[in-house]
Amino acid sequence: MCGIVALIGSREAAPQLLDGLRQLEYRGYDSAGIATVEGGRLHCLKAEGKLVNLSARYEQHGAPGQCGIGHTRWATHGKPEERNAHPHLDGSGELAVVQNGIIENHRTLRESLQAEGVTFLSDTDTEVIPHLIALELKARSDAGEAASANLLLAAVQAVLPQLHGAYALAVVWARCPGALVVARHQAPLLIGLGEGEFLCASDTPALAGFTRTILPMEDGEVALLTPLGIELYDSAGQRVQRTPTLLTGTEHVADKRSFRHFMLKEIHEQPETAALWVARHLPEGALVALPLDESVYTGVERIQILACGTSRHAAQVGAYLLEQLAGIPTSVFYASEFRYAPPPLTPHMLTIGVTQSGETADTLAALAMEQERRQSLEDPAYAPRLLGITNRPESSLGRLVGHLLDIGAGIEVGVAATKTFLGQLLAFYGLALAFAERRQGQDGPGASSGRSIAELQALASQLRQLPGLLQALVHDHDQRCAELAHLFADTQDVIFLGRGINYPIAMEGALKLKEISYIHAEGYPAGEMKHGPIALLDARVPVVSIAVPGTVFDKVLSNAQEAKARDAQLIGVAPACPDTTLFDVLLPLPETDELLSPLLTVIPMQLLSYHIAAHRGLDVDQPRNLAKSVTVE
Ligand code: F6R
Repeated sequence: MCGIVALIGSREAAPQLLDGLRQLEYRGYDSAGIATVEGGRLHCLKAEGKLVNLSARYEQHGAPGQCGIGHTRWATHGKPEERNAHPHLDGSGELAVVQNGIIENHRTLRESLQAEGVTFLSDTDTEVIPHLIALELKARSDAGEAASANLLLAAVQAVLPQLHGAYALAVVWARCPGALVVARHQAPLLIGLGEGEFLCASDTPALAGFTRTILPMEDGEVALLTPLGIELYDSAGQRVQRTPTLLTGTEHVADKRSFRHFMLKEIHEQPETAALWVARHLPEGALVALPLDESVYTGVERIQILACGTSRHAAQVGAYLLEQLAGIPTSVFYASEFRYAPPPLTPHMLTIGVTQSGETADTLAALAMEQERRQSLEDPAYAPRLLGITNRPESSLGRLVGHLLDIGAGIEVGVAATKTFLGQLLAFYGLALAFAERRQGQDGPGASSGRSIAELQALASQLRQLPGLLQALVHDHDQRCAELAHLFADTQDVIFLGRGINYPIAMEGALKLKEISYIHAEGYPAGEMKHGPIALLDARVPVVSIAVPGTVFDKVLSNAQEAKARDAQLIGVAPACPDTTLFDVLLPLPETDELLSPLLTVIPMQLLSYHIAAHRGLDVDQPRNLAKSVTVE
């Protein structure tokens, strides 16, 4: 959550900091701030709300200096008000800190600082940090040490062990304008190497326009940056040497093209996401080709998947596929719940973490816990086997897990996940086919579910047709959903119904609508409505029913009838259906195998939510209270 940037070099820092923050705004956008140093003074500007407010302040007041830090915030501690915006300063106003993460022991630290006479100006957890560093600097200055870059570094290094939690931070000090200190502990931070200047940021989009040479920091590391170079230290204070890496491709640059919103552009990019996936992983002549080591598959008896939000919905489709195609018992957990109530350990388990950003704290913490408890058993049958599915292989997830599947969807800026969801689904189709192929003819637990190679091949060849199907579907439904949006002008509740493999898609439809249109929505298994929620239905509650021919088609149609009998307005996501009078509105689907249908049914879900929110004039790409990557638990 939150985005931090920091720059040191030989040109004015503020414009570059603002530019970096603009690229990171998707990480949080309830307030923003920058602090630069020049002439022995700190120049700090903050503004509540979007970055444009901060830019306006900068136009008015300026912020001189060639070294500075910046922050765009998603509130965790303290309301989204200007006094809680970063940077936070020490009592003298000479030292400034920006932080992304959470300092879990901030209350204890605050109380002991207050006992020493420190006054706090904000409600944030971060404000303890500048005060602690200032005390450390004072103690060292009192002992005769002169202000210097090394003094600042030593003070930060002395304070970090006192901070519990996950964080990335950057510090500047008015008395030492030629030094910038940054640190990382379980929250992302990358250093970009320019010519005679260095830019640090929470994520690559802030760096991509500046440099392609980057140095991702590791957990526990601290760096001292001066215009002359980087000194990198591990948590024990030992100097670390690491070779920078290169950012490749254009996928790191955010560009809306001619679309009104990033979300719409990203929905339209899905045929391309699918085409790339097919080209990479479904070559003609082979069933499926995933870049995974054989050790991912060998001897797996069970699979557990940990994820949050939309990624969890992809995981639920994944579990369906892994069970139905490959016959492997698979469970899906909310990552945020798993860590505090993990199931008993069972042998030969594959644990999959799904996170498009690769930075979701809940998912990372759950995976790390699973890894630790399995390692501690020292029994090969229980050894951790962790696979990550992500759009950001360079992320913290990439460093945590032993095996990684990159969905390769390119940068997604809209806070509501769309093309990365499709990418995650495709990863699961690939994985389920790969497991099913390897299990042909096996008996006993984890045996093949009986799908013959010919059946699997038929599925793979239908998957190869997906880009074309998606192209037509996105195009047609964009228009249809735009026309439908006005029907929802006064709607307060919507129910999404699905069954079987499309139940997670109903939940995804509801989540998309909630997060960008602020309309209350529920995704429900269609057959469960009669056990309670049907009481909610009347003429004011539209019902979106996903009805795909296959195992549950007739059942879903009768569940839809039940809703219609309660006067609900019925929107069908279905192929032309036998009872043409059933749905008030039909969002038609092409005929497809039921197993592949989620790849199609999700498109009208996304477009309906998008157009309803856009019709209401809402900020689709940056909905209230949300952020693109949730790096706090
Ligand atoms: C919804 C959405 C969120 C994320 C969730 C997990 O559109 O984007 O629900 O899916 O915060 O994020 P990742 O996939 O980055 O772990």
